[in-house]
Amino acid sequence: MASGRVAVVILIALSLTIVECKVFTRCQLTRELLKNGFSRTFISNWVCLIEQESDRNTSAFHAKTPRRKYYGLFQIGSEYCKEGRKGGKCDIACEALLDEDIRDDGVCALKVFEQEGFKYWSRWEARCKGQLLPDIEKCPDWQYPSNRSSPPRDKRTSPSRGRRSALRKRFTLHLRSKRSTVLSL
Ligand SMILES: *[C@@H]1O[C@H](CO)[C@@H](O)[C@H](O)[C@H]1NC(C)=O
Ligand SMILES: *[C@@H]1O[C@H](CO)[C@@H](O)[C@H](O)[C@H]1NC(C)=O
Repeated sequence: MASGRVAVVILIALSLTIVECKVFTRCQLTRELLKNGFSRTFISNWVCLIEQESDRNTSAFHAKTPRRKYYGLFQIGSEYCKEGRKGGKCDIACEALLDEDIRDDGVCALKVFEQEGFKYWSRWEARCKGQLLPDIEKCPDWQYPSNRSSPPRDKRTSPSRGRRSALRKRFTLHLRSKRSTVLSL
């Protein structure tokens, strides 16, 4: 009876980890970084860093010592978060750095970068700095980053067409009023 319940708990725990863990492809990662406000200038450095630190796995977790643990895609250290509740330099729960939602991870990683630079990540220093960086130029979101933000063509032309007809209407009104002033003279 008790062992059955334990098995159920283990099954639930396993299915949760399967659901929560996501491993991006290189191009998916590029899209996510672009979407989350990372500057194009450094994207290939970030992709290299993430590949070296976490293998693009959003649930990556490493405990170097009981007090120094590293969380998620960016392997952000425990001084930037707090276990079980919000805290640390990023004011975030460490567990939030392990889920599929990488928006908060991105905000925190940019904060780390702002304060310490890429050198915070020892694997960036060892395997990315000054080396051949991942080729992301064939990723669709890298080539056409503005597709999504620009409005469709028909929407772009219709307001100007509307403006033109409004101008025409105003012009004919102007003619008519001129004619009426001529008549009234
Ligand atoms: C991602 O990382 C988690 C935690 O380290 C690990 O359990 C999981 O197997 C990894 N997923 C893949 C596909 O490597
Ligand atoms: C973006 O536009 C180009 C052509 O301008 C097209 O070939 C490409 O498939 C588009 N990408 C997306 C994601 O819609």
